[in-house]
This record gives sequence, structure tokens and C-alpha cells, in this order.
Amino acid sequence: MTAQKVLNLSDLEQDTAVRVVIDDVPIAVVLDSSGEVHAIGDTCTHGDVSLSEGFVEGDTLECWAHGSQFSLRSGRPLNLPAYEPVPVYVVTIDGDEILIDPTVTKEVN
Ligand code: FES
Repeated sequence: MTAQKVLNLSDLEQDTAVRVVIDDVPIAVVLDSSGEVHAIGDTCTHGDVSLSEGFVEGDTLECWAHGSQFSLRSGRPLNLPAYEPVPVYVVTIDGDEILIDPTVTKEVN
């Protein structure tokens, strides 16, 4: 599969997450305060809730339900109750277009 256009860069507000679904894969897309675009799995690994309804703080996205903060870089939760990471997707910026391939995740150590 190739990367698909999911949003325009100009559609994103800083420090706000937007949910997109590509081929049935829910992804939270975030423009952080430093202007970097991140894409992580949108389903919290603690409960079946949408992370994009949570809160962006720095390079983390906090689950609104119980407060686990997921790193936008590694996908790892930085605090309980979640302990399993969410996937991190490769983001390509082409002009104003944000492209994501839901089958390509970043290898994060
Ligand atoms: S559902 Fe996300 S921390 Fe509980």
C-alpha cells in the first residue's frame, strides 16, 4: 500500500488531535507546538476510547478517560493505567498535504 492523503496541513490546529480512519485503521494526527506532525494509533490500549478526544501536551497525547499520556514519538504510555504502546505511523508532508500509510509503522526503540 502507498501513503494516502489524510488531511491538509492547514486543516490542523496546533496542539489539537484529529481522528482519521484509513482502511479501517483509526489514527490520531497531531500538529505539536514545534510544528511537527505526528500520527499514532487512535485507540487507547487501556480502554476502547479515542485518544484524539484527549489533550495534547508537548509531545504527548493524554487519554481523556484515565489520564495515561502517550508519547507522540514512541507511542509508549508514560504513566499508568495504560502500559501497552500504540503504533506510531510514518508521516510524509508533501506541500500542504499530509500523507500516511496505515501499514507502515515506525520502529521505535
Ligand atoms: S481508557 Fe485510556 S487510560 Fe483508560
